[in-house]
Amino acid sequence: MGLYTEHIEPRLVNLACSSRVIAPYRSKLVPRASGEVLEIGFGSGLNLPHYDAARVSRLHLLEPNAPIRRLAESRLRQSALPNAILDAGAEAVPLPDDSIDTVLVTFTYCTVPDLAGALREARRVLKPGGRLLFAEHGLAPDAGVARWQHRIQPVWGRLAGGCHLTRDIPSALRAAGFDLPELEQGYAERAPRFAGYISTGAAA
Ligand SMILES: C[S@@+](CC[C@H](N)C(=O)[O-])C[C@H]1O[C@@H](n2cnc3c(N)ncnc32)[C@H](O)[C@@H]1O
Repeated sequence: MGLYTEHIEPRLVNLACSSRVIAPYRSKLVPRASGEVLEIGFGSGLNLPHYDAARVSRLHLLEPNAPIRRLAESRLRQSALPNAILDAGAEAVPLPDDSIDTVLVTFTYCTVPDLAGALREARRVLKPGGRLLFAEHGLAPDAGVARWQHRIQPVWGRLAGGCHLTRDIPSALRAAGFDLPELEQGYAERAPRFAGYISTGAAA
């Protein structure tokens, strides 16, 4: 691993994800997680303070990137929630079928290399009646913004850890067989539009 991927990229990801622009999405979504919870791509652990300890039995925290996982250590020490770290990718979750009540994913499905595979795995581990809570940025509905997203994607992807600006996450969820009983979409306030079109809700 080079200097950039070992030291610089994890800190840039942590900095970008710590933005005040993103915080309201976390505080609205994360407290809704309950039971056995699988968080996909938990990164530097920025969602940890938002979980409702009274509702969560155990957190399964999946993150394949060791340098980013290290940035979560102090937040993990401060959390009283029982947790298990999973050193794995979303495309091959090391958990049994029908074992999870809530899959939580924030600003990660933009980055996983095989989105369809990751969504198949999320469905596999969810119990019947379980749900997937998500907040993700992606393809904007305005043609002018979408054009810019496609234009800058090649450079952006290399700088931002493989992040895709042009994924339509709700469509990918539906294609994977999820229903979306709750979906809110719009541009985040004070964010550049090319990176700030957010879809958030619950899939079942
Ligand atoms: C922009 S960060 C978001 C981190 C965290 N979810 C948050 O909201 O702060 C994207 C995360 O996806 C993780 N990631 C990349 N590829 C992944 C994969 N195949 N499976 C799971 N997570 C992955 C990255 O390591 C990184 O931690």
